[in-house]
Order: sequence, then C-alpha cells, then structure tokens
Amino acid sequence: MAMPVVDTEYLKEIDKARRELRAFISNKNCAPIMLRLAWHDAGTYDVNTKTGGPNGSIRTEEEYSHGSNNGLKIAIDFCEEIKSKHPRITYADLYQLAGVVAVEVTGGPTVDFVPGRKDSKISPKEGRLPNATKGAPHLRDIFYRMGLSDKDIVALSGGHTLGKAHADRSGFDGPWTREPLKFDNSYFVELLKGESEGLLKLPTDIALLDDPTFRPYVELYAKDEDAFFNDYATSHKKLSELGFTPS
Ligand code: HEM
Repeated sequence: MAMPVVDTEYLKEIDKARRELRAFISNKNCAPIMLRLAWHDAGTYDVNTKTGGPNGSIRTEEEYSHGSNNGLKIAIDFCEEIKSKHPRITYADLYQLAGVVAVEVTGGPTVDFVPGRKDSKISPKEGRLPNATKGAPHLRDIFYRMGLSDKDIVALSGGHTLGKAHADRSGFDGPWTREPLKFDNSYFVELLKGESEGLLKLPTDIALLDDPTFRPYVELYAKDEDAFFNDYATSHKKLSELGFTPS
C-alpha cells in the first residue's frame, strides 16, 4: 500500500487536480459516471473486517470486471488522464475527489474533501455493492456493513438525481429525473410522484417509499432541498472516508 505524504506539495497537487477535474467533468458531461465510480470504490467497505472502501482498488481489472461495475472503466480511464499529470496523488484520493467535484459542478452541495487515502490493489469479492432488484432489508444489510445509517441510505440514494441507467450495463434503462446533469432534490420529488413516463425507479428506490423509517426522509428531502443538501454532504463525506482516518 502506498501511503501518501500529505505535505504542502501534495495539497497543491490536489488543488490543481480539483481545478482540472472541474473543467474536465463539465466539458465531458461525465459527472454521473464519476460520482458512480467514487461510490463503487468506497461502497465495498466492511466495518467489521476493515476491508474494501475508498482505496483505489476498483482500478484493478479483477474489480472493475464485477457485474455491478459495468461501464465504470470509462470513468477509470478519465481519471487516468488527471493522474498522469499528478502522479503523487493516490487513486484513492483522486476517485473521491472526482466524486466530490462531480456533485459540485452540477450544482450540488460542497462536500468536504480531506486527502491522504492509501492505495490498495486488494479487491474484495464480488457482491458487496447493493443489488437494485432487492428491498429495504437488503439495503440495510449492505449499508450497515459499511457502517452507515438509515438516514445515510436515503440521503445517498439522492445521488440518482444524476445520470441514468444503461440497458447494456445494468439491465435497467433511463434517468431518474428530467435533468440528469443537474444535482438537485428532484430524485425525491419524482419518487413521491410515482410512475412518470420515461423516468426510472429501481426496486431499491421504491423501497425508500415503502419503509416507515426511510419514507419521512424522502418526504423531507422532496420539500426541503437545503435539508437534502446538508444531509447529503454529511453522508457523502462519510462514504468517501470509510476506513480512513485523516492524519
Ligand atoms: C446508476 C443502483 C446507490 C450514484 C445506477 C444504476 C444502478 C444503480 C442499477 C444504473 C447503472 C447503469 O446501468 O449504468 C444503485 C443501488 C443503490 C445505489 C441499488 C443502493 C442504494 C447509489 C449511491 C450513489 C449512486 C449511494 C451516489 C451517491 C449513481 C449514479 C448513477 C447510478 C450517479 C448514474 C451513472 C451514469 O449515469 O452512468 N445505480 N445505486 N447510486 N448510481 Fe446508483
């Protein structure tokens, strides 16, 4: 594992990479897949064994070939363009920085970013990320294993305000909102409205409506975008720092 030394130089490189990512992600309209990359690198964390997590291991062929990571090689290759100019920055930091910038440039909240994550090439076994065909108990199994809460589950599901599903990647098709390149609370507004022509709802999205603990958060976030942005920023930071103790 490469341990980055977070000195003044490293912080400067992070700052430059952040600026380059802003331009890159805006020009390529690739915020959704960059956010999905950050989430899938981090979301393998197991709080009990302290394995997985935001450690850059998704760059290994073994891991990006997992079915749930279909399509993410595109985002890995995008990040490589930034990495080649800033070789000191770890993949682990770069992917999480890309996720934070993706939310920022599409109009979402500012998510606090602390650098210093170590890289690993040890990939967890397939099956740690959520399965979209399942319900609330499965979401809890997966997110509690990461050490996250019910509120985190709902707030982070709001990440589906960005992007769309691709039939050839997941078997699902279409965006969750009318403006999939804008980070706002429309995911929750649409979820409460029910079926809408052309918009997607995964079984795991519907599960948020049917569960008595999840639903009040959906209702809150649909009517109060500031509440969503605040909680999202907190939960996204937690996700981006699973198993990481900043030095
Ligand atoms: C896309 C499932 C949580 C961000 C997708 C897709 C599926 C999925 C099936 C479609 C992939 C494709 O066909 O390209 C789930 C499930 C979750 C979950 C079951 C459990 C709660 C999250 C979280 C985030 C997130 C926590 C980020 C905070 C995204 C984004 C896309 C996406 C941005 C769009 C990617 C693109 O446009 O290429 N998700 N997801 N998801 N997911 Fe999730």
